[in-house]
Amino acid sequence: MSCTTLFEQVLDPDNRANPYPLFAQLRRQPVCRQEDGTYVVSTHAEIARLISDPRISSEDLPDPQKFRWTGHPITDLFVRPIRAEIRRRHQPFIFRDPPDHDRLRGLVMRAFSPERVRRMRQETTDLTNELIEKFEGKARIDLVDDFSYPVPVTVICKLLGVPPEDEPQFQGWATQLATALEPNQRGDEETRAKNEQCFTEISEFLRDLIARKRKEPQDDILTDLANGDDDTERMNDFDLIATAVLLLVAGHETTVNLITNSVLTLLRFPEHWQRLAREPEIAPRLIEEMLRYEPPVQYRTRLAVADIPIAGVTIPKDAPVVLLLASGNRDPARFADPDRFDPDRSDNRHLGFGGGLHYCVGAPLARIEAEVALVSLAKRLGNPRLVEDPPPYRPGASLRGPRHLCLSFDGIAQA
Ligand code: HEM
Repeated sequence: MSCTTLFEQVLDPDNRANPYPLFAQLRRQPVCRQEDGTYVVSTHAEIARLISDPRISSEDLPDPQKFRWTGHPITDLFVRPIRAEIRRRHQPFIFRDPPDHDRLRGLVMRAFSPERVRRMRQETTDLTNELIEKFEGKARIDLVDDFSYPVPVTVICKLLGVPPEDEPQFQGWATQLATALEPNQRGDEETRAKNEQCFTEISEFLRDLIARKRKEPQDDILTDLANGDDDTERMNDFDLIATAVLLLVAGHETTVNLITNSVLTLLRFPEHWQRLAREPEIAPRLIEEMLRYEPPVQYRTRLAVADIPIAGVTIPKDAPVVLLLASGNRDPARFADPDRFDPDRSDNRHLGFGGGLHYCVGAPLARIEAEVALVSLAKRLGNPRLVEDPPPYRPGASLRGPRHLCLSFDGIAQA
């Protein structure tokens, strides 16, 4: 079968529960041109090569609604260019190339210090225990709504320095804005309109918060990014708002999916769940294997800025490129028995956090959150069972994860 329509099938919600057989077919041709001109890269070696190649850009893909002359000079010559400029200035660094990307990322890495991230372990432990206490007296829960969802948004709010009373509002914004990172949803008109509205609200909120952080500095990431002696140490309001939204969006649904995918997989193979409850020290290895086996970010899109010969084809300049990380993670040329979930796997250099210049900034934090969440659940949930398998999935093909995960269980143990 030709590979030219396979990616369309990956995007089809009917294949969301198990896209892995499609990836296996795609890997027969490591770089495959789709009918719409997109090049899908599905093997580990080729993804690893392109993810660090400067001829591959992260600047946002061209607007799907390409410039159309409306015949109205004010709209075409004034309003549109101003809108385009605003859009450009709000571009978060995940969608930028060097040198802008490197300058902004450098500031974030400094504020996201290892010490600050380590401090979140205790906060996360308290939070997960509080959420588990609420399961008392219930025989069933929805793991997504009752547990996985509130954990990362609360952690990010604490790191950024968002007041606790504003956290619920942040959660709503995070859910809506996640669609902006979702290539198969962000072209849809209704989603765009909702995102614009949501972005206006969150920007206004952040602008006020940033002003307060400048007046009364505190120990948090927004304060560090907003203050500094000169432009090399401080972000302007545009970049700071875009960065705060990026941290919220990139760090939220991804971590929700890691926790939920992990519980789903561990309950499909209950021997691993029982082992985690007995030997919590295996959690870090188990999470690495989860990032390989069911990565929360399945693919990222890029743009070729030059002709790139690779694996027997030439990706032409200006072609959209899909780096199918989740397929690289199941490549038998790189991982022995790749469809087997094996936390004891050695040399597990997966692509779950990407690679190259855009390697995930939040990887250490995500690892802590997932570890604390899974160990608390494994220790405290009595005999959990999946109520529905496969569970219903969210529409997104890139940030892929269950919308609900219903579990039944026999009570909870003390913390
Ligand atoms: C399990 C959870 C997570 C997964 C699987 C994940 C995955 C990824 C991946 C694959 C990329 C690369 C994107 C690209 O190449 O275009 C990335 C970038 C990024 N992630 Fe994460 N992420 C997670 C959690 C987090 C958290 C908790 C944060 C922060 C609070 C975060 C912040 C970021 C940022 C800021 C970038 C952009 C880096 C850059 O462009 O230089 N992520 N993440």
